[in-house]
Amino acid sequence: MYTSKITGLGHYVPENVVTNDDLSKLMDTNDAWIQERTGIKERRHIKKGDGNSTSIMGVKAATIALERAGLGTDAIDMIIFATLSPDMYFPGGGVEVQEMMGMRTIPALDVRNQCSGFVYAISVADQFIKTGMYKHILVIGSENHSGGLDFSDRGRSVSVIFGDGAGAAVISRNESGKGGILSTHLHSEGKHKDELSLQGPSTEYWVPQIIAENPQEDIPYYPYMNGQFVFKHAIVRFAEVIQEGLDANNLKVSDIDLLIPHQANLRISQFIQQKMKLRDEQVFNNIQKYGNTTAASIPIALTEAWEEGKIKEGDLVVLAAFGSGFTWGSAIIRW
Ligand code: COA
Repeated sequence: MYTSKITGLGHYVPENVVTNDDLSKLMDTNDAWIQERTGIKERRHIKKGDGNSTSIMGVKAATIALERAGLGTDAIDMIIFATLSPDMYFPGGGVEVQEMMGMRTIPALDVRNQCSGFVYAISVADQFIKTGMYKHILVIGSENHSGGLDFSDRGRSVSVIFGDGAGAAVISRNESGKGGILSTHLHSEGKHKDELSLQGPSTEYWVPQIIAENPQEDIPYYPYMNGQFVFKHAIVRFAEVIQEGLDANNLKVSDIDLLIPHQANLRISQFIQQKMKLRDEQVFNNIQKYGNTTAASIPIALTEAWEEGKIKEGDLVVLAAFGSGFTWGSAIIRW
């Protein structure tokens, strides 16, 4: 059985910076409320005409990751694309990346696990590498949230949190056999699916029905989030799944060199840090600059941490995510 490791990382965010003050011009909100509740100062939004989309941002991040892995597109055996905001309802972003990057007719798989999407995606990649079926897999997390948020007062508790961007990782066979992805741990609890969801359009609730059934001012095809409910579950599940990963590898919290939690909310990260008694330098946060970019948040944060020299060979890096579904997961990596 082989093991896998991350051999290249890249990220891309749109140039357009949207501050809390910018949002306060669109809806009844303010910088103090947003910072106090979420830690977010600004986020990036695709600007109409800037040439970006979920798949295009994914390609930009992937191009950097491939270059850093020292690989051409021909070396990639599979694409796994995590997003909740694909360019099209179907097909998914993976096939768009295959086409845009001029890749061979390799498999392209989309993962629909929202904030846990990237952890699910690298877990899938890890399994394909372990069996020896593939050698190099391109994993992308990318989101265009701004295209689908409600920027009126009604949507303010959701819209201030989310931002656009993409991150990518090349997962390769670990030729040295030392370290790499030690284990991944995935979970779900569908009974909470409605608590953080976008219910239409869907095959159950198609556009003409939505429009016919709802007054113009009460359109339900924007994301819904029961914020406090999500918060309470997130802090429990994050800690649980990190501990599960450590236990599986006979490791302790003090062994963690860097925890990269999904950037859901700075308060959630701080709560986990306190609960698990982690020091400041053991936890990486960049939600202040980008907001919550869902499937893209971990690969963006991982790339930035690596670029800033915060991840060295031999370090124990822990990725953990929780989100809509609910779904959650962790990955324990020896760099
Ligand atoms: N600006 C100003 N006021 C706002 C606001 C905004 N953007 N959004 C909501 N409010 C108001 C509410 O209307 C409410 O007003 P009221 O007291 O007059 O009714 C008040 O602020 C408090 O709202 P509430 O929803 O109780 O706030 P909260 O403390 O629970 O914080 C979240 C809201 C969303 C920040 C918080 O619940 C949270 O972070 N949840 C987790 C979300 C998350 O991480 N999601 C991603 C998971 S992957």
